[in-house]
Amino acid sequence: MDYIGSKSVDPRKVTTFRLQEMKNAGVKIVCLTAYDALIARILDETGIDVILVGDSVGNVVQGLETTIPVTLDEIIYHTKAVVRGAKRPLIIADMPFMTFQVSADEAFTNAGRIMKETGCGGVKLEGASEIILQAVRRMTESGIPVMGHVGLTPQSIHKFGSYRARGRDPKEAESIFQDAVNLEQAGAFAVVLEKIPADLAKRITETLKIPTIGIGAGPHCDGQILVYTDMLGLTKDFNPRFVRRYANLYETISEACRKYAEDVRNVDFPNESESY
Ligand code: KIV
Repeated sequence: MDYIGSKSVDPRKVTTFRLQEMKNAGVKIVCLTAYDALIARILDETGIDVILVGDSVGNVVQGLETTIPVTLDEIIYHTKAVVRGAKRPLIIADMPFMTFQVSADEAFTNAGRIMKETGCGGVKLEGASEIILQAVRRMTESGIPVMGHVGLTPQSIHKFGSYRARGRDPKEAESIFQDAVNLEQAGAFAVVLEKIPADLAKRITETLKIPTIGIGAGPHCDGQILVYTDMLGLTKDFNPRFVRRYANLYETISEACRKYAEDVRNVDFPNESESY
């Protein structure tokens, strides 16, 4: 069966090559984050194409205010777990703050560590400064697939001062557009567009040959990504307009825990059939 262009999930392992075929055929690329084997397995079984082990692990799992403190060792730890849990999806590891900005050499060494120690299929990094573009060239020339990330780049929160949408004024929009073009020219296989106007994302998507993956960037991107805890409603206090909640796991889990506590207190759990 020719899956490219059909609505069925192609059972073959997802590769960067496959993502390019999907863009060329107009098939949307479905991406979510994950940080452990348990969730990775569910995402694999439900046909998610790409799993990003985002540095959002800092906010989601570690309870941090920003992604800045996340370390290379932590990303490697979580990526190893995700790789154990998922077979079909392309697994991408996020490069944490200050693991790729100092020099192209250091970025290259750190990306190499991620690839060797985790078995993932590529790395993602935020921004498109000259050092970062050099790093992307160096990595891609050596066989490390790189996903870019422009628009709102959370690792630069202290420069931006807020998580507001980027690229609303023409000058900033032009600079985001140019960053995406430069990343493609440096060899990136895809670019995440975060929290930018839909018409800017459309222009970038139509200009680039490589796939664009949107988060808060409208419907025209080649694929979409969300943080899995947001779309499952596990997070309660984070409600940006770009998140659609497909479940309310916060309530489901709370209700189950309340019921368990009640049963234990009433000596209703465990019952005879749950005992030895
Ligand atoms: O860290 C992350 O989860 C990300 C996605 C939101 C794109 O960078």
